[in-house]
Amino acid sequence: MNDRISLELGDRSYAVHVGRGLTSQAGEFLAPLCGGIVPVVTDRNVASLHLERLMEAIRGRGLEPRPIVLEPGESSKTFQGLERLSDALLNCSLDRNSLIVAFGGGVVGDLAGLAAGLLKRGIAYAQIPTTLLAQVDSSIGGKTAINAPQGKNLIGLFHQPRIVISDIDLLSTLPRREFLSGYAEVAKYAALNSPEFFSWLELNAAAISDRDAAVLVPMVARCCRIKAAIVGQDEREAGTRTLLNLGHTFGHALEAATGYSDRLLHGEGVAIGMVLAFRLSARLGFSTKVDTERLERHLRAMSLPTTVSDIPGPNPSPEAILVHMSHDKKVRGGQIALVLVRGIGQAFTTSDVSIEAIRALLAA
Ligand SMILES: NC(=O)c1ccc[n+]([C@@H]2O[C@H](COP(=O)([O-])OP(=O)(O)OC[C@H]3O[C@@H](n4cnc5c(N)ncnc54)[C@H](O)[C@@H]3O)[C@@H](O)[C@H]2O)c1
Ligand SMILES: [Zn+2]
Repeated sequence: MNDRISLELGDRSYAVHVGRGLTSQAGEFLAPLCGGIVPVVTDRNVASLHLERLMEAIRGRGLEPRPIVLEPGESSKTFQGLERLSDALLNCSLDRNSLIVAFGGGVVGDLAGLAAGLLKRGIAYAQIPTTLLAQVDSSIGGKTAINAPQGKNLIGLFHQPRIVISDIDLLSTLPRREFLSGYAEVAKYAALNSPEFFSWLELNAAAISDRDAAVLVPMVARCCRIKAAIVGQDEREAGTRTLLNLGHTFGHALEAATGYSDRLLHGEGVAIGMVLAFRLSARLGFSTKVDTERLERHLRAMSLPTTVSDIPGPNPSPEAILVHMSHDKKVRGGQIALVLVRGIGQAFTTSDVSIEAIRALLAA
């Protein structure tokens, strides 16, 4: 039941492997891509749960794994974190044959990917994502970044991995809230691209929630296929790749308005943001209320928040949300670029929505 998706980017094409037990097979996948010392960047949580198995698999192929363990959490995605990691990596005597392994969630992947892109003007790297969000989203597509005081992910580059290995078994140790937050991105793929996938998710909601691997493997693979197809067409986000931002302009503004605190995880903001994007689409006559209600019902079934009032603590005001939306990097020429829908599975991008329409939506 394991699957292989290929992301077509000419001589930078790569495979995304999705399945069970892949950590133990990682040596087989990595050996053809490197030799000698293999730096393995991870975080403390992942290291304590899963690192030994990966180390063994790499050693088994005559390679020499060198773990570099970061502090978990977004605070590692800074210049200071990058400096520390670069220092540790350069001490591994990297050369043209080196391959850096990013073994963790989106934080580890983004930081290790950026370091790989910068050191010696570009070292190859592999993604072995360990969170649902990283398996369906951040490990694929080559976006790498750290945060700046001015905003998230503002310092980065495109650097595609050589391979992505998504072991579904790793998801069993993920805290439930992290798992569900990652699931919002899964629902996003269906909501933007495929009514049929959306129905499948509705049908399998209970098994997904129970993390039944028989369902998670095809679910993750499907998301990877959608993302790989979109990135293959538009690597640098000049067109179709912007569709992947469904729910994100609102979501990012909500994250910013709640101070990027644990009151609202990224996927939770995306869940609320998608419902807002669907509501706005219905208000503007592009889609129907029925679509919005269906999305909302499914997200609720998956224990995700769907309205601003679901956020614990004081609710961000419409004005505060609007201010943060206009700071988002998706603003073009003073207009807020939004992803709207013509129904489930039919997303499109527009910059034609007035601030007034967004204000009215948020006030409603
Ligand atoms: N590059 C991209 O295209 C892209 C896309 C989306 C998000 N991102 C970035 O991804 C980051 C968020 O990623 P994330 O949600 O994976 O967060 P994360 O990397 O912080 O991981 C979440 C938490 O789960 C822990 N963890 C990871 N794997 C685990 C496992 N298997 N079992 C138990 N605990 C585990 C981590 O230690 C951490 O505490 C953000 O910085 C975001 O900007 C990047
Ligand atoms: Zn996201």
